Amino acid sequence: MGEFSADWLALREPVDHRSRNTLLQNQVINFLHQRASVVTGLLHITDLGSGTGSNLRALAPHFGAMQCWTLVDYDTDLLRAARTTLLSWADGVLDSATPSSIRELGIFSGSVEPLVITKNMKTIAVQFRCANLLADYRSILNEPADLITAAAFFDLVAESWLTDFCTNLTKPLYTVLTYDGKETWGPPNTLDADVLRAFHAHQSTDKGFGVALGPRAAERLQSLLQGRGFTTACAPSPWGMDDHDRALIEQLALGTASAVREMGVLESNAIDQWEQARRQASTCEIGHIDLFAHPA
Ligand SMILES: C[S@@+](CC[C@H](N)C(=O)[O-])C[C@H]1O[C@@H](n2cnc3c(N)ncnc32)[C@H](O)[C@@H]1O
Repeated sequence: MGEFSADWLALREPVDHRSRNTLLQNQVINFLHQRASVVTGLLHITDLGSGTGSNLRALAPHFGAMQCWTLVDYDTDLLRAARTTLLSWADGVLDSATPSSIRELGIFSGSVEPLVITKNMKTIAVQFRCANLLADYRSILNEPADLITAAAFFDLVAESWLTDFCTNLTKPLYTVLTYDGKETWGPPNTLDADVLRAFHAHQSTDKGFGVALGPRAAERLQSLLQGRGFTTACAPSPWGMDDHDRALIEQLALGTASAVREMGVLESNAIDQWEQARRQASTCEIGHIDLFAHPA
């Protein structure tokens, strides 16, 4: 269904993980440690646009001993891939009837079977919710959760959706790796500015929610939540890549060139030339923003 392949998400996962802003992440961890549910031992987390579960794999090692995750995505293939990937990532798998605090959760069982895994001495229950967030997010936001999270998701949404989302949000939100539009490729190429302008235009095309906010999403999210009385903090989480990330650099060059071709504003020879040069770029920095917000 979606345009995000499991292969693409796997390629970006190590760079995503090392790019997350750790100062902001520590703020989130400290905040959650002060919450009653952590004291009683069980943390509920809902991950919007989860893909194959990269956000869980980044965060779960930092959270408490007992966690219940709901991975929400509209792409069942990605949710199935999430289940398989989590099984290989886990240290062990528990019968979903154990332990008792997990049994009492009444885990949702949809088309992708829920899981209870162990990792680094933590017990992690995972349920997979196939839902289109264009329409279904209100009921999901109303379900019990100590934290709503998302990775590389909010740049896809439109202003009207985001406004309604913020109006309905009553829980802490931690969203990472929202594209902020800043790109620096090395060595410089005379076409960089034109390509980036056309790429930004493509980022604003409809990604399933109406005209996408693209690079403006994090700023709009922060401002809307502040308007609702949330306390917010933002921090940069740029991808910094060099020769060690050749496969990702190549895919980015191909993906950017393809998006720019779709916009029809640059000569195809120029795009081909940029793509060729950028596949061999020695460095590439792509800007992202992480945001943590909680009701004051
Ligand atoms: C860039 S990927 C990020 C995936 C994952 N969070 C990660 O960091 O690897 C965006 C994800 O949002 C999901 N998505 C996009 N539009 C959606 C929608 N309308 N409803 C639910 N999920 C959606 C896609 O299927 C994809 O998994």
